[in-house]
Amino acid sequence: MPVITEIEDLKRIYKRRVPKMFYDYAETGSWTEQTFRENSSDFDEIRLRQRIAVDMAGRTTAAKMVGQDYAMPVALAPVGLCGMQAADGEIKAARAAEKFGVPFTLSTMSICSIEDVASHTTKPFWFQVYTLKDDDFMKRLFARAKDANCSALVITVDLQIMGQRHKDLKNGLSAPPKLTPASILNLATKVPWGLEMLQTKRRFFGNIVGHAKGVTDPTSLGSWTAEAFDPSLDWERIKQFRSWWDGPVILKGILDPEDAKRALDVGADAIVVSNHGGRQLDGALSSIRMLPQIMDAVGDKIEVHLDSGIRSGQDVLKALAIGARGTMIGRAFVYGLGAMGEAGVTRALQVIHKELDTTMALCGERDVAKLGRHNLLLPENFATRWS
Ligand code: GLV
Repeated sequence: MPVITEIEDLKRIYKRRVPKMFYDYAETGSWTEQTFRENSSDFDEIRLRQRIAVDMAGRTTAAKMVGQDYAMPVALAPVGLCGMQAADGEIKAARAAEKFGVPFTLSTMSICSIEDVASHTTKPFWFQVYTLKDDDFMKRLFARAKDANCSALVITVDLQIMGQRHKDLKNGLSAPPKLTPASILNLATKVPWGLEMLQTKRRFFGNIVGHAKGVTDPTSLGSWTAEAFDPSLDWERIKQFRSWWDGPVILKGILDPEDAKRALDVGADAIVVSNHGGRQLDGALSSIRMLPQIMDAVGDKIEVHLDSGIRSGQDVLKALAIGARGTMIGRAFVYGLGAMGEAGVTRALQVIHKELDTTMALCGERDVAKLGRHNLLLPENFATRWS
């Protein structure tokens, strides 16, 4: 087994092990992928201030997110189809998260169902909601999340319709994979993945199949999102969802200060500054570049989290220093999951934790809660270059 010291190491193993259509599904942005690329490259524009001769003993990365205690302010983001990256992938990722002490967020588009993940874990997880047209399905979905003891609801507000990802269309992405000459050729090179997958029954969208009406091809993510998702989702509907859930509500997919202010009006407990990992509006600015403006608009009124582009503990630190109280990683844990299952997710979390902890110390801080803009060197026009 190669020595794994950074997230890129997991990505290399992941790419070898998992069928191309699922690797491509994770490793894509929409259209030209400009936003997808800039989500990561914009982190590189931010530099860190080195401070010395500070007592480094007794450091802590412990943090509260939506009032809950975690080992570090990093949650596993909702990611669709994790159960295609590794057999029973959502259960494996949830177990790794609970052992590490960070939140796992189960996607509506998961392979393992809410009930299945709940019965294979011991701590509450967060549940992510997509809005389908079928209102009965939505009411049941909330009730199912409640029955499963989910400790927060993450409502995705940036995907009523899907941004086009060329690779998924070209690959004919589906769960389970449809057998075409190209997919058979590729699957033939992924034997360990295939053998593992043959041993599980969990190969369909577990929250949807048998639960939602009006989905003609439940194996195709693209067609069922187009058919079943509610394009009319608006602030009134979000407010209604708020009233259906008595625990914390996190709105994920806010990228504009005006929308961040609207999130205050609907009574959200937190927002996630996100452009959906560059998978929706290609041409949007990166999350990290939008974060300063959003902090200025609402940072003292609501808990702000950030996702999109985080691949290291240094990236986490930069988001926290700009003011985020939490972060989410998506691809960074999926690489680990696809590479090595539960152990790979644990490894991804260890890598990020160590990077965060050591970098914090080298910045002269001992507590993630004390990180601030004083730890950063930002280009003067970082937040204002495009206006
Ligand atoms: C779903 O959330 C996706 O981005 O594919």
